[in-house]
Amino acid sequence: MKKIIITIDGYSSCGKSTLAKQVAKQLNYVFVDSGAMYRAVTYYFIKNNLNWELAEDVTNALGKISLAFEYNYENGTSDILLNGENVENEIREMYVNDKVSEVAVIKEIREFTVAEQQKNSVSKGIVMDGRDIGTVVFPNAELKIFLTADPEERVERRYNQLLHLGKSVDREEIKKNLEKRDYIDTHREVSPLKKADDAITLDNTDLTTTEQLEIVLGWANEKINN
Ligand code: DC
Repeated sequence: MKKIIITIDGYSSCGKSTLAKQVAKQLNYVFVDSGAMYRAVTYYFIKNNLNWELAEDVTNALGKISLAFEYNYENGTSDILLNGENVENEIREMYVNDKVSEVAVIKEIREFTVAEQQKNSVSKGIVMDGRDIGTVVFPNAELKIFLTADPEERVERRYNQLLHLGKSVDREEIKKNLEKRDYIDTHREVSPLKKADDAITLDNTDLTTTEQLEIVLGWANEKINN
């Protein structure tokens, strides 16, 4: 059967990874969380006291960072490995949330992560979520989705997600963080977040995860069987 590339882009906390993971599971495709890569790079800078605004530190860090994913197909998880260490939990901490968009504006860092992401395209059969996947990473992807949801709903979802991970944060702090990240992500010079011309917008504010999955699988099967 034909294999395709599916891209899911959108603002922070719209449920992109949840959807991408489910679609990949149903189609038996590989899921790649590109945001986790920017988060892992950010974590590396913070942990090693490096400054992403200093060219020397950026070159030094990128020469030492190796990123990989560890998939568990049974429970549907995909954990990021930074130089072999599973940092999936650390990269979701608020101090990483706070800085990741600033790190993601740096051109050299984007070039590094985009090159890593494009390595996945060799075999097709991928679902990748992020901000520039349909515009820059895979401009020829067969199915591109631009996911949106009401801001209030997104705050609530991130709150519940963090609660579920055992992290305590207040809604106001989450709201401010989402606003800040969305602003930086859409206004940066290098590959800002924007809808690809050929992407389909999906507003999932009033959809259950099952409903949105069915819609997307319908679109995917159309492309696969075409
Ligand atoms: O999807 P996420 O919230 O885990 O992404 C974290 C940050 O990484 C996000 O605020 C912007 C950046 N990012 C990006 O610039 N490009 C991507 N393809 C994915 C994420």
